[in-house]
Amino acid sequence: MIPLAASAAVLKPSDPIPDDAISIQGPDFDLQLSFQDFMRSYERIGFQASSFAQAVKIVNKMRKWRLSDEAITPDESEDLLDPEVRANTRCNIFLGYTSNLVSSGLREVILYLVKHKLVSVLVTTAGGIEEDYIKCLGKTYLADFNLDGATLRKQGMNRIGNLVVPNDNYCKFEDWLTPLLDQMLLEQKKDGTVWSPSSFIRRLGKEINNEESIYYWAYKNDIPVFCPALTDGSIGDMIYFHSFKSPGFVLDIVQDIRSLNELARKSVKAGMIILGGGVCKHQIANAMLIRNGADYSVYINTGQEFDGSDSGARPDEAVSWGKIRAGSEAVKIYADATLVFPMLVAATFAEGSVTK
Ligand SMILES: NC(=O)c1ccc[n+]([C@@H]2O[C@H](COP(=O)([O-])OP(=O)(O)OC[C@H]3O[C@@H](n4cnc5c(N)ncnc54)[C@H](O)[C@@H]3O)[C@@H](O)[C@H]2O)c1
Repeated sequence: MIPLAASAAVLKPSDPIPDDAISIQGPDFDLQLSFQDFMRSYERIGFQASSFAQAVKIVNKMRKWRLSDEAITPDESEDLLDPEVRANTRCNIFLGYTSNLVSSGLREVILYLVKHKLVSVLVTTAGGIEEDYIKCLGKTYLADFNLDGATLRKQGMNRIGNLVVPNDNYCKFEDWLTPLLDQMLLEQKKDGTVWSPSSFIRRLGKEINNEESIYYWAYKNDIPVFCPALTDGSIGDMIYFHSFKSPGFVLDIVQDIRSLNELARKSVKAGMIILGGGVCKHQIANAMLIRNGADYSVYINTGQEFDGSDSGARPDEAVSWGKIRAGSEAVKIYADATLVFPMLVAATFAEGSVTK
């Protein structure tokens, strides 16, 4: 006799499966899948692959949303009643990324988005600014995570993960930046120009005058770039050196927090795509609080939440603060952004650009 309690425990019956349940199934390579079919197959793989598929859907909603898709509400503001205005009112996409991603080949993926005006606002950290201009002056090379630090130091090579940047590139950057700092200081003293990190980045984007630069395109397309701690990198070193010879240069972060928060407040719909954590993640989320939360949110990062870090916090923590709207669509993909973001862009903004 099978013991009844054991068989009841092992052979416990299941509740009926809902009609809309998605069964798990991976891609079938015998089917000559197109790139887009292959991307769609991620939904049914499970784990982070399914979160990736959810991110594709959310980003496509950000891209396709128009105010004209929605009914006029009783409290609709006067300037949003015109059908043409409604058809042209889109979701503002705030893109954030950590510095190392501009050191990596994600620089060109971000450049594509900025060049084609597919995002509305950029937020990054200092390395995310300077590494873009520096790459116009010298290359970054593929290397190895295991290279010896002391040897690299002797060779004048700086390591970022498995990339190296020759120190000469930073010397070229100083040669390029110092006369511009002189000029900006002169304009501050002569014309009363008050520089902010975003107007500083915009000016450098104009001066670099190079189609390989993200910030050249941001300048051309009038896409604002925010970097609250602009001095935490090589730009800070150059400003420090410059201050001995020519003191008095001022960068005003107050103008920028006002501009960023106002951009968020005035967004009829707002989405955030945030690669990595730290300042770029929180500064965008904090701006979203001004409008009572983002409507669409995609996080791609490796951060964990057990340490209470903002970098690792899941979207639901931002809901508790009013930085993401309750009930809105949000996903976090736990992954290295260098692996995931090119695929996400290929499956959404650049749909059709990657052929078989
Ligand atoms: N190239 C560089 O990385 C560089 C250059 C100069 C200055 N800096 C300065 O270093 C400081 C710290 O850099 P930061 O705030 O940009 O970010 P960070 O490098 O400190 O990363 C913050 C968090 O983002 C996540 N993250 C980072 N890389 C990721 C990836 N590839 N995929 C997924 N998640 C990832 C991790 O959770 C990480 O803890 C900044 O002030 C920056 O200006 C960096």
